[in-house]
Amino acid sequence: MSATYEIRGPVAVITLTNPPVNGLGLSTRKGITDGIERAQNDAAVKAVVITGAGKAFSGGADIREFGSPLAYASPDLLSVIAAVEASSKPVVAAIQSVVMGGGLELALGCHYRVVAPGTQVALPEVKLGLLPGAGGTQRLPRVLGLETALNLIASGDTAKSEQLAALPGQKLFDQVADGDVVAAAIAFATNVADRRPLPRVRDLKVVHTDAEAYLQFARNTVGAMSKNFPAPLQCVEAVAASINKPFDAGMQVEREIFSALMLTPESRAQRHMFFAERAASKIPDVPADTPVRTIAKVGVIGAGTMGGGIAMNFLNAGIPVTILETKQDALDRGLATVRKNYEAQVKKGKLTQEKLDQRLALLSSTLAYDDLKDVDLVIEAVFEDINVKAQVFKALDEVCKPGAILASNTSTLDVDKIAAFTKRPQDVVGMHFFSPANVMKLLEVVRGAKTAKDVLATVMQLGKKIRKTCVVSGVCDGFIGNRMIEQYSRQAGFLLDEGASPQQVDKAVEKFGFAMGPFRMGDLAGNDIGWYIRKRRYIEQPDMRYSKSADLLCELGRYGQKTSAGWYDYVPGKRDAIPSPVVAEMLEKHRAALGIAPRRISDEEIVQRLVYALVNEGAKIVEEGIASKASDIDMVYLAGYGFPLHRGGPMCYADTQGLFNVVAAMKRFAKNPNDDASFWVPAPLLAKLADEGKTFS
Ligand code: 3HC
Ligand code: NAI
Repeated sequence: MSATYEIRGPVAVITLTNPPVNGLGLSTRKGITDGIERAQNDAAVKAVVITGAGKAFSGGADIREFGSPLAYASPDLLSVIAAVEASSKPVVAAIQSVVMGGGLELALGCHYRVVAPGTQVALPEVKLGLLPGAGGTQRLPRVLGLETALNLIASGDTAKSEQLAALPGQKLFDQVADGDVVAAAIAFATNVADRRPLPRVRDLKVVHTDAEAYLQFARNTVGAMSKNFPAPLQCVEAVAASINKPFDAGMQVEREIFSALMLTPESRAQRHMFFAERAASKIPDVPADTPVRTIAKVGVIGAGTMGGGIAMNFLNAGIPVTILETKQDALDRGLATVRKNYEAQVKKGKLTQEKLDQRLALLSSTLAYDDLKDVDLVIEAVFEDINVKAQVFKALDEVCKPGAILASNTSTLDVDKIAAFTKRPQDVVGMHFFSPANVMKLLEVVRGAKTAKDVLATVMQLGKKIRKTCVVSGVCDGFIGNRMIEQYSRQAGFLLDEGASPQQVDKAVEKFGFAMGPFRMGDLAGNDIGWYIRKRRYIEQPDMRYSKSADLLCELGRYGQKTSAGWYDYVPGKRDAIPSPVVAEMLEKHRAALGIAPRRISDEEIVQRLVYALVNEGAKIVEEGIASKASDIDMVYLAGYGFPLHRGGPMCYADTQGLFNVVAAMKRFAKNPNDDASFWVPAPLLAKLADEGKTFS
C-alpha cells in the first residue's frame, strides 16, 4: 500500500508514500481508508494526522489512472474523503509543498488543516479539461467564499498558502506552521482531540451578498475567455450549485459534470499535453541522473532579430550575457532593441523599472572574441550562411574554454557540418529558438551525431530554467517543426491552385483553432523567406511539385506586412488583413495558365489536407528517429506553431480521428489530379498503425 501508518503518542499518522507527488492512486486510497479504519478501532488513538512524504502533500488524483478501471476501483476518491470526514476522531491534514486537485479535496474532507508557508495550493483540474471531481467545487467556496474559490477553480491557478491564510474570514487553514508541519499537526490534533462536534466543511454555508449577479458576471467573463474549452464554464455551473443546492445535491451536479467532461476530446487533448510536455524532457538514452555542466555565463553571437531575444531569456533568469557583433553600429542597434523591449514591458506594467535595471546590468557587449573566453555557453545567431557560421565556430573553438557548450540557432543548416568546423564536435548542439525568441515557448534542441549526452542534459535543464518547452530533434532539413510546415505550406499552395482563396484557407484553419492561417502567417513572417528557401530546395529537388503562386506573389514584390502587401493588402502601420483584388487576379491567371477550372473546396477538406500533411511528415520524422516519440511532435506544434491546444497537437488529433480514417482520406486526396499523388503516400509507420488499428500514442 502506498501509505504508512504509525502511532505518535495519542495520534495516528497516515503518510502518503506514492512518489513523485503522492498521486491518489488505488493503493494510496486503500492506504488512507485502512489507516482511518485502524484508528477508529484503536481506543488508544485520539486523533489522526494525514500527511504526504517527499515533495508534496498530494498532487491530486493519479492522472496515470485516468481512462483505466483503476480510477474508479474501490475505494474511489469520493468514498475515501467520505470516510475521512465521517471519522469519529478528528482528522488533521498536515500540508506541505504541494496540495493540488484531489489532494486539496482530501484535505477539505479533514476536520482541520495545518499548512506550511510556501505551499502551492490549487485545484488545477480545469487545465486538464476537467473540474474538481471529489467535492472541490462544493467545499472550497464554503471555506474561501464564492469569489476566491471560483477564481481558483475556473483558472486552475496556484496560490501560496500564506496568501490564502491571510484572507479575512477564510476557513481553509486552521494554522500556518513554520518548521516541522507534521509535529505541529500532531500538537494541534492532540489539542483538539476531545473537541466535539467535529467541524465538517460540508456543514458550512457559502455566503455572498449577491451571488446570482456575481455568477452571471462569471459566466460572461469565463465564457468569453475560454472559447474552445468547455471546462471553465462548467466550473462556474458546479460552483453555482454550492450556493443553490444542498451539499449532497451539489456533489451530484459536480459528479455528473466531471464524468461528462472526462469524455470530451478537449480533456483528452489536455491530459495528453500534460504528459507530452513532461515526456519531451526525457531523452531515451540520456538518463535523468546524467551530470550537467554549470552554466553561469552566456555569450551570444549576433545582435539581430534573434540574438537580442535569445539574450533576454538568460537575463530574465538572472544569467549574465555578453553579446558579440562585428560592428559597433549593429551592436548598438541590437542593444537598443533589447532595452526597448524591456521598456515596453515596464510601460505595460509587466516589469518594474528596478527589474529592468537589474536585467540590463547583466548584459555586456563586445566586438572581440577574447571577451568570450570564460563563458560556459555560446549561442550563435548570425546570418544563415554556412561560410559565416564556419568563421564564427572556428573563432569560438580558438577562444572558448574547454567544456564550454557551443550552440547554433541555425534554422536550416546542418548542425553536424557546423560541429565539424571545431575540434570539439561533442560540445556542439543546436538551440533553435523561435521568433520572437524572448516570447515563444518552443526551443528545439538539435542533437548532432557527436553531441555529448551531458551537453544535451545541460541544455534541456537550462531550457527549463529559461521557461522554454524543450524538444529534442535529430539533424535534418528544417528539424521537426519547419520540416513539417513545409509540407503544410505545399498543400496550402495546391489549394490555391485548385480554386480556394487565401482568405478561405485561413478562415477554415482558424475556425479549426489555429492561431493564424498559413497565408496570414506568411505575410507576418515575410513571404520572401520561403521564396529564398524554395529557390534552394527546388534546385536540389527539381522533380518536387509545388504551387508557383507564392513565387508569383514575391515577384510582384508582395512580401507581406513589411511591404504593406502580401497575400492580403495592409494599411501601413496596421495589421488588419484585407482581401486583395490583385492577388485574386493573379491567382485567376495562374489557374488559367495551369488549365485548372477552379472548384469549390469545402472547409473540411482544407483542414484535413493541411493537418494530414503535417501528420504524414510527422510520422516520417518519428520513423527516422528525428523525434523520439510522436508526442514530441505535438509539443513542437503546440508550443511553436499555434496548433489548437484543445486538439492536443497533430499526432494526437490524428489519433482521435482514427488513423484508418486518416489514411483513407489520404488515399482520396491522392486521386485528385491537381494535387501530388506522391505527396499522399502514407508514411510506412502511419500505414502500419492504421492497418493494425493502433494509435501514435
Ligand atoms: N498524478 C500522477 N503523476 C503526477 C501528478 C498526478 N496528479 N502530478 C504530477 N505528476 C508527475 C509528473 O507526471 C512527473 O512525472 P515524471 O517525473 O515521471 O515525468 C512528476 O510528477 C513531477 O511533475 P513535474 O515535472 O510537473 O514536477 P514539478 O515539481 O515541476 O511540479 C506539480 C509538481 C506542481 C505537482 C505539477 O506536477 C502539477 O501541477 N501537477 C498537476 C497536478 C494536477 O493536475 N492535479 C489534479 C489531478 S486531477 C484530480 O485531482 C481530479 C480530482 O479532482 C478528482
Ligand atoms: P539577423 O540578420 O536579424 O541578425 C544577424 C546578426 O548577426 C546581424 O546583426 C549581423 O550583424 C550579425 N552578424 C553577422 N555576421 C556576424 C559575425 N561573423 N559575427 C558576429 N555577428 C555577425 O538574423 P536573424 O533573423 O537574427 O537570424 C540569425 C540566425 O537565427 C540565423 O541562423 C537564422 O536562420 C536563425 N533563426 C532565425 C529566425 C527568425 O525568425 N528570424 C528563427 C529561428 C532561427
